[in-house]
Amino acid sequence: MHIIPVKDFNDLGRKASQFIIQLVREKPDAVLGLATGSTPKSTYKALIQDHRLNGTSYQHVRTVNLDEYVGLAKDNPNSYHYFMRDQLFNHIDIPDRNIYIPNGLASDLEEECRRYDRLITELGGVDLQILGIGRNGHIGFNEPGTSFEVMTHVVDLTLDTRKANARFFNTLEEVPKQAITMGIKNILQSRSILLLASGPSKADAMARLLNESKITNAFPASSLHQHRNVTVIADEDALSMVYLGRRA
Ligand code: F6R
Repeated sequence: MHIIPVKDFNDLGRKASQFIIQLVREKPDAVLGLATGSTPKSTYKALIQDHRLNGTSYQHVRTVNLDEYVGLAKDNPNSYHYFMRDQLFNHIDIPDRNIYIPNGLASDLEEECRRYDRLITELGGVDLQILGIGRNGHIGFNEPGTSFEVMTHVVDLTLDTRKANARFFNTLEEVPKQAITMGIKNILQSRSILLLASGPSKADAMARLLNESKITNAFPASSLHQHRNVTVIADEDALSMVYLGRRA
């Protein structure tokens, strides 16, 4: 695991965007695995800025998102479809046909999961997967206890995760109880992974990930120790409990 410490959230975005921009320049039809949540926002902002200033084009890029809530329509402001349009896709030149996000309204959710796995295979796999990390170590919506062997699947969200995401909804009750997520196996099949972390609320999770090298499904992010090409970009607050001198 390669660790890049940065000062703050904006630095995180600048640094992470450089990885993405470099890949897109080298491979204009790259497949990007994207995440939602607060963490990638400064990265998407930096990508938009670069697109405007330097004209980096996403005409041929394909994107696959990690996850989507079950039961929310694409135009629901809390859906990840909406988030991605609002935070990135509406502001760059990626064609709609190149954007893939699980359909949380599918009538057959199991079939939707299989379709998503097939789709990723047909695209040739993910070149660079962007990840945030939950306070409990989840990646995607793979909560503690999830097998590292599962592909895209439907998950019951833990109360902790629903509470963490409740800030975007009016009430906790409105937060969906299920989501579709790529599995850890999908994530580990990506050719490279960029894990982003910002803020003091991630300090415990980062300490557990980086001070220890124990791989356990009680802490899903520990699965990343099995991958050969993971870069962690994290800010000072997120790294406040990490011993950078003797990291895993
Ligand atoms: C989002 C996702 C989640 C988030 C994680 C951190 O697509 O898969 O695993 O990355 O919950 O969320 P934030 O960035 O809001 O702290």
